[in-house]
Amino acid sequence: MATTKKDLYVGVDKHRWWKEAIVYQIYPASFLDTNGDGWGDVPGITQKLDYLKDLGVDVVWVSPIYKSPQADMGYDIADYEDIDPSYGTLADVDNLIVELKKRDMKLVMDLVVNHTSEEHAWFLDSRASKTSSKRDWYIWKPAKYDSAGNRQPPNNWAQILGEANSAWTWDETTQEYYLSLFTPEQPDLNWENPAVRAAVHDVLRFWLDRGCSGFRMDVINLISKVQSFPDAEVIVKDNTYQPGDKYYANGPRLHEWLKEINHEVLSKYDTLTVGEMPFVRSEDEIIRVVGAESKELNMIFSFDIVDIDNAPNDFRLSLQDWDARDLKRIISRLQRLMLERDGWNSLFIENHDQPRSVSRYTDDSDEWREYGAKLLALMQSTLAGTLYVYQGEEIGMRNVPASWGEEEYKDIESINFFAKYRKLYPHNPEKQALAREIIQRKARDNARTPVQWSASPHAGFTSPSSTPWMRVNEDYPTTNVDAQISNPTPSPGTLSVHAFWRRALSNRKKHAGVFVYGDFQMLDFEHDKVVAYKRWSADEAFVVVLNFSGEGVSWDGLGGVKVKKWVAGNYDERELEGRSVDGGVELRAWEGLLGVCE
Ligand code: GLC
Ligand code: CA
Repeated sequence: MATTKKDLYVGVDKHRWWKEAIVYQIYPASFLDTNGDGWGDVPGITQKLDYLKDLGVDVVWVSPIYKSPQADMGYDIADYEDIDPSYGTLADVDNLIVELKKRDMKLVMDLVVNHTSEEHAWFLDSRASKTSSKRDWYIWKPAKYDSAGNRQPPNNWAQILGEANSAWTWDETTQEYYLSLFTPEQPDLNWENPAVRAAVHDVLRFWLDRGCSGFRMDVINLISKVQSFPDAEVIVKDNTYQPGDKYYANGPRLHEWLKEINHEVLSKYDTLTVGEMPFVRSEDEIIRVVGAESKELNMIFSFDIVDIDNAPNDFRLSLQDWDARDLKRIISRLQRLMLERDGWNSLFIENHDQPRSVSRYTDDSDEWREYGAKLLALMQSTLAGTLYVYQGEEIGMRNVPASWGEEEYKDIESINFFAKYRKLYPHNPEKQALAREIIQRKARDNARTPVQWSASPHAGFTSPSSTPWMRVNEDYPTTNVDAQISNPTPSPGTLSVHAFWRRALSNRKKHAGVFVYGDFQMLDFEHDKVVAYKRWSADEAFVVVLNFSGEGVSWDGLGGVKVKKWVAGNYDERELEGRSVDGGVELRAWEGLLGVCE
């Protein structure tokens, strides 16, 4: 076993700013409201730049702020070159860029070009008539008819945000269906048309020339569809429509078009690019995109960790048990893949499409929340790749409480899911309870509640007299930024979640040779509660030991790894000194430890 720093070291030798950068994702509607309309805005982001800089953030990625009817919270764009008035103006964004630059920080925009809003001028033209100049900018197909003569969509693909519905929307005016993979308000662009691709290239240039430093590319691997649009295999029994990802994820021309974006635009700038890529597991496919020589994207968001609790052969909103062994398999595979095949990882376990990580992967009860949040911070800050922190994660914000009624859930995906269960199982209280449980544990709303800045009314997100667009989680009097900053050591030897993150990010930078670029080895794959790994460079080596369970564990999986001393942990750190460094490790519930190796 490779156990000392002198052993064979692979690591990464090409250093880049976007590999070391700490990226902070802002979901702008819920970040900070400065004009009292209950909706976060661009000036709110600018106001918090010192806070972010102090935390250790280098790059701010802002979820869509473009003009949008907000059918899917801005992921339905009506104008790529203007800002929605609810967020502010282009001048506000210019100012944000100036203020970021002053602090040596950068802006990454969200590029949503698999689809537009149905209110985009391109789609208005496209749907106006079959002979419109932009008819072919979207994907139109005639109806099919079943044996009884009923009109049917062109195939059986399900809508991604409304599983009970078809991915095709019928257009009365021109008597054809258009493809709308997410919701009817989000028609898919036809990338086969070179004019569409050229228009997308212009959007990138527009923002790069304005001073933005890169893009998070929304579902970018869905842009190329198998052109025969075949029916998908039936795998979800209860549902009329089926997951069609086999035919639209990483489709036949994806790599050609990513290379084209790179050649036409990205190669002329110095950018950070991260492609959101659901449904993709193939290592070859991943390396084709993120391999050092690929000339496609810097990195992608792989879904393995956030799909860990999805039931097999079901949609995202389903439940599945998992344990530390699953986590180890996933982490090790991606860490080793990038080292062995010269690619690059992104690290994230939370974003605006996922529940809160402290609730999902640990225990968010009052007793354990802080331990869990710090355990996850320790894990993420010590893995290789570009690290993404989602707003509120740095203070351990948790899911909405189970007591909240259905009406508090604002996301179209949650609303459609409740409707589906009511339609499928109208008189089945067990199924209705299950629907509630799934939503409480996995709804995207969980990550979309307003950021808890302070113990003031509405958690300081908006002025006391206004109404936040989404209800504030009522734990804000105890879980908020102010409390954790003003009291970074809530008990002797113990850091607040915020202080722990802040230190973790600073250590990650100090030891970038190991944590960002270094080698990786998972330890003890078989243990069902402990995740432990070794990181090393040519100069130094660390071991990370994480108890992913609420029980004490006597763990002896260090193998040949020799610990010199324990240097950080999520319990009282004054006790680290006295802890044994050889033989087994006695771990308490949700305990995480960082050790320096010999
Ligand atoms: C991505 C976004 C998500 C959105 C979807 C459609 O997955 O992150 O919020 O609903 O794409 O744009
Ligand atoms: Ca506002």
